[in-house]
Amino acid sequence: MNIEFSEEHKMIQQAARDFARNELLPGVIERDEHQTFPKEQIKKLGELGFMGMMVDPKYGGAGMDAISYVLAMEEISKIDASVSVCMSVNNSLVCWGLETYGSEAQKQKYLIDLAKGEKIGAFCLSEPEAGSDATSQSTTAIDKGDYYLLNGTKNWITNGSSASTYLVIAQTDVSKGHRGINAFIVEKDWEGFVVGKKENKLGIRGSDTHSLMFSDVKVPKENRIGEDGFGFKFAMSTLSGGRIGIASQALGIASGAYELALQYSKDRKAFGKAISEHQAIAFKLADMATQINAARLLCLKAAWLKDQHADYTEAGAMAKLFASKVAMDTTVEAVQIHGGYGFVKEYHVERLMRDAKITQIYEGTSEIQKVVISRGILK
Ligand code: CAA
Repeated sequence: MNIEFSEEHKMIQQAARDFARNELLPGVIERDEHQTFPKEQIKKLGELGFMGMMVDPKYGGAGMDAISYVLAMEEISKIDASVSVCMSVNNSLVCWGLETYGSEAQKQKYLIDLAKGEKIGAFCLSEPEAGSDATSQSTTAIDKGDYYLLNGTKNWITNGSSASTYLVIAQTDVSKGHRGINAFIVEKDWEGFVVGKKENKLGIRGSDTHSLMFSDVKVPKENRIGEDGFGFKFAMSTLSGGRIGIASQALGIASGAYELALQYSKDRKAFGKAISEHQAIAFKLADMATQINAARLLCLKAAWLKDQHADYTEAGAMAKLFASKVAMDTTVEAVQIHGGYGFVKEYHVERLMRDAKITQIYEGTSEIQKVVISRGILK
């Protein structure tokens, strides 16, 4: 592996850092408290090219590599993980899925607006009874000739109400198991499609997570992605790249909390000196810095493999497994270093601690990452 940041990488990292400081930091506490979707901020992110970072410019994207994506995700997530989850789902799951597996007509009709950030996408796999066990889809899409008739419920869908384009996974033939699953592009304003309740969440509270209901929604045949029966592989393949995005989000949450703790420990005095000069705190900072560096290298390794068109499934799962644990551990310690201040909203670390938890759950729990990694090792 040879990861050397180009001038372009450094510019992208700086642009993301500036955007996060100038556009996301003001209001981040209020958005979290009131569960306000960052609509204006996402629009500006799209104008910067960050909603379709890796998409070919001919489809409205910024044509950047996966390393750039990791760098940008880390910077955005340091400040506002509610924004970065929207960015990650749109980039890795929706845009990448459509660009890689969509037909030319689908790319023209849907991808361009999504890659420009003019529209937002959602990825709809999870169901009330199908989270980790993703093959157990209860949502059905029955072939009616020119169209499929879609019925069912999806749960915990990121961008649930802000999206206008939804990639929906559904069972078309139960007898074929996972080979009877398909993926469809569904538009929000189609008859029978209802956006259900918004979840009141522990973390990433600015993002809009909803259940979705489909009741006899007519999906045109041309909106199926790929060959008949390709839907489960579509979902798995798309999630492999998505995990690099979420690993980078976890990395950003960790490094954001670490930077705050580092600064606080230099400013705060106790027993006659800065608390950073007490070994109890200095050792915590040393552990945090080491873990974060290791997590960053795993994220960059997975992204580098993706850029080389090599297999990155296990590397992405390792990055997500490790970085999400680092996010959890680091944010807990950052709150501890802040003492009583860490427990109040103004100091930001309590929000980062709440946001960290979801990185061990979505796009596959930590246990699922271990399934993916161990299968890779043992095959
Ligand atoms: N790429 C392409 N194909 C893949 C694949 C990959 N990464 N992984 C598996 N497949 C294929 C297999 O080759 C197999 O095909 P064949 O039978 O033709 O060989 C098929 O898919 C089935 O694979 P498995 O037998 O491995 O499937 P499984 O039922 O054992 O499940 C699993 C594997 C890893 C547990 C999977 O179910 C999984 O990843 N579950 C977690 C789901 C998940 O991450 N959900 C997140 C929801 S999305 C989200 O959170 C987004 C958001 O809002 C932030």
